[in-house]
Amino acid sequence: MKPSESLKIDAFSMRIADIKGIELDRLHAHSLSVGWPHRAEDWQFLRESGHGFVALDEIGRVLGSAMWFEHGPDFATVGMVITSPRLQTLGAAQWLMKRVFDKIPRRDLRLNATRAARRLYLSLDFQPEKTVYQCQGIARVPTTESPAEASGDIRTLDASDIPAAIALDAAGFGVRRTALIEKLFAHSTGYGLFDGKKLTAFALCRPFGRGHVVGPVVAESDADAVAVVRPHIADHSGYFLRVDTHMDSGGFAAFLSHAGMPVFDTVLTMSLGKRLADFSNGGSASPKTYALASQTLG
Ligand SMILES: CC(C)(COP(=O)(O)OP(=O)(O)OC[C@H]1O[C@@H](n2cnc3c(N)ncnc32)[C@H](O)[C@@H]1OP(=O)(O)O)[C@@H](O)C(=O)NCCC(=O)NCCS
Repeated sequence: MKPSESLKIDAFSMRIADIKGIELDRLHAHSLSVGWPHRAEDWQFLRESGHGFVALDEIGRVLGSAMWFEHGPDFATVGMVITSPRLQTLGAAQWLMKRVFDKIPRRDLRLNATRAARRLYLSLDFQPEKTVYQCQGIARVPTTESPAEASGDIRTLDASDIPAAIALDAAGFGVRRTALIEKLFAHSTGYGLFDGKKLTAFALCRPFGRGHVVGPVVAESDADAVAVVRPHIADHSGYFLRVDTHMDSGGFAAFLSHAGMPVFDTVLTMSLGKRLADFSNGGSASPKTYALASQTLG
């Protein structure tokens, strides 16, 4: 059965609309209503990278949103699921998610759930996977040296490095994200670790929310991940920086806290369909995602 185009909750009568036609300042006000740091430019980036719905009331106010980001025919991430505080716990997010399911049937889905949203996703059969540590603060270059030094040369990335970064990201993330990585490159500064001509680790950094976010970071070891993130810390020393990582311990997690970015909050990666392990190519020396592109994008 097709999900309905409209929903009546209490005094609100809502209709669904494509997120593409909505003014950015209205989307910005919507995420501010739940205390999220996204700027209008961040919404713009997300809109260009994916698809989404909004729920509008009779006078066109945005009361709900949900987005998805497709990577190939079988996989998508879901994010920006927000319902306005005056509408919460009344079924609006369920309704929006069912609209998303209707648009992308038979895909494996991954998302990062806030505490407020866990129950919603559990009721939609998403399975809990791993904690994401949202590390943020005023960046400072740690005085302590990392325990192991990475071997290779660090240099800034340019457009010629995009194919190698796409391949490395795919090995870590489990799915090839060609369009997204290309788009991230256009908005980011990047550092890569090279073994001769071969890219073995990289970290991108772009403006986001209250400052900048470092991600994705892909590397084979903590030392390599630290080596590609360290120059971003130096570039943003004294300014707000954020990293979202699955790493709960070890050299990389310790480095972030020494670099002025302690854990601020956590969210939970959840999957519907294939689990994270099903996407892993195994092997401790294989590339791993040390930092997400963002909580929304995964
Ligand atoms: C998380 C959020 C989107 C949920 O939206 P919502 O419109 O309140 O969700 P729904 O009313 O559709 O509720 C969905 C399920 O969660 C349950 N639920 C929601 N809020 C609840 C609460 N405070 N206490 C108990 N159950 C709750 C509902 O009963 C329903 O469960 P069911 O399917 O078993 O009946 C909303 O709270 C929000 O926007 N929060 C801030 C932003 C955010 O954290 N977004 C999530 C990003 S991952």
